Amino acid sequence: MKTIIEPFRIKSVEPIRTTTRKERRELLKKSGYNLFALKSQDVLIDLLTDSGTAAMSAGQWAAMMRGDESYAGSPSFEHFEQAVRDLFGFRHIIPTHQGRAAEAILFSILGGKGKRVPNNTHFDTTRGNIEASGAEAVDLLCAEGLNPADLSPFKGNMDIGKLESFMAANAGCVPCVMMTITNNAGGGQPVSLANIKAVAEIAHRYNKPFIIDGCRFAENAWFIKCREDGQGGRSIPEIVRDMFACADGMTMSAKKDALVNIGGWLALNDDKLAAQARMRLIMTEGFPSYGGLAGRDLEAIAQGLSEVVEEDYLRYRVRTNEYIVERLDKLGIPVVKPAGGHAVFIDARAWLPHIPPLQYPGQAVAVALYEVGGIRTCEIGTVMFGRQPDGTEKPAQLDLVRLAMPRRVYTQAHADYIVEVCEEISKTSNELRGFSIVEEPPALRHFTARFAPL
Ligand SMILES: Cc1ncc(COP(=O)(O)O)c(C=O)c1O
Repeated sequence: MKTIIEPFRIKSVEPIRTTTRKERRELLKKSGYNLFALKSQDVLIDLLTDSGTAAMSAGQWAAMMRGDESYAGSPSFEHFEQAVRDLFGFRHIIPTHQGRAAEAILFSILGGKGKRVPNNTHFDTTRGNIEASGAEAVDLLCAEGLNPADLSPFKGNMDIGKLESFMAANAGCVPCVMMTITNNAGGGQPVSLANIKAVAEIAHRYNKPFIIDGCRFAENAWFIKCREDGQGGRSIPEIVRDMFACADGMTMSAKKDALVNIGGWLALNDDKLAAQARMRLIMTEGFPSYGGLAGRDLEAIAQGLSEVVEEDYLRYRVRTNEYIVERLDKLGIPVVKPAGGHAVFIDARAWLPHIPPLQYPGQAVAVALYEVGGIRTCEIGTVMFGRQPDGTEKPAQLDLVRLAMPRRVYTQAHADYIVEVCEEISKTSNELRGFSIVEEPPALRHFTARFAPL
């Protein structure tokens, strides 16, 4: 059959509320044109993030009822630990309340002034935790990853040549080599198995631990299966094991590919490092058999990990984004291609060439999507990255708008609606205006800045 269906039926529904365009104009004005300031009840389709927004399955809800809330020695921890170990193979598995807690623990040990940490692209919390320790976060993404129109299959790859030179020049101050799969900040683009192995080889040649930020490991494995030579006949768990077999540890936000609303972990092979991490965990998160989580959360993660590697799910998941990208592309709306694993990215700078980057074309598109169709998205461009540490402002590399797809939440009709709203905007896109920022905090301004239309 050609039609790829949602591989589930709906047992419990959550109504979503339509507002009028006039109401949305008022709500935008009230929120200072910052979509983070909107109430979720005023949003029809919420594509702000794919993090913690998944719909859990009947199996996960049932597993939650088995959650054992004992402080220590809970069987729920054993289920969690077993599920993580079966897929990823690490010796030490340390639960945390979400991904950034795993990063904070890791870099409280490995970070520090004078250190430099390479990655394909650091996600902003990873960068934040590295920088908070006094170390420097360095991005070494391949050139294709920076070109939204390039159709290469693995645009999340690390630039191996750059990594080689970086290690040759900096080995003494590198505490570990990282790799983010898929590359969230670079459009949800995947990393090939060959690239993972090549990066691991370089890290190990210099005697450095290789740590994977594995938030979207299953989506990455699906891309490997579909796109990499010789991988088509392998199962997703087999590919996942292979991806992680060459790593010395991982950080994980279970809010993505463990299909839960909260949770994460830090996994390590090194006994000494793991002992230090557990010490830190006890101070900041909780006892090592629960981290910052309830027993029921651990059960939901264990069950989620068995569901996220199902091929029917991954096929539907990735196809949704491809479908939207294909249709937007046909309408002449510039999008990052090929489609990423967890989101569709509109290239706002290319779509609205009349709005200069410092008037935030991404914000203009995000505001229009809400005003016209009640769709909430996220600007990933000059608003997010433009402010420099010295207080100056410069255009980000790209001005994108991310339409992040919550897992198992929306259907084909929602996808069609999203396309229709974009089509409606494109009819008068040349009339959209940029924004100025009228109020901003000293850091992470995209969350709370207030804007005024120009
Ligand atoms: C690649 C990546 N790493 C780390 C994180 C942080 O995870 P959390 O939000 O659970 O703290 C995220 C969250 O979006 C992410 O996308």
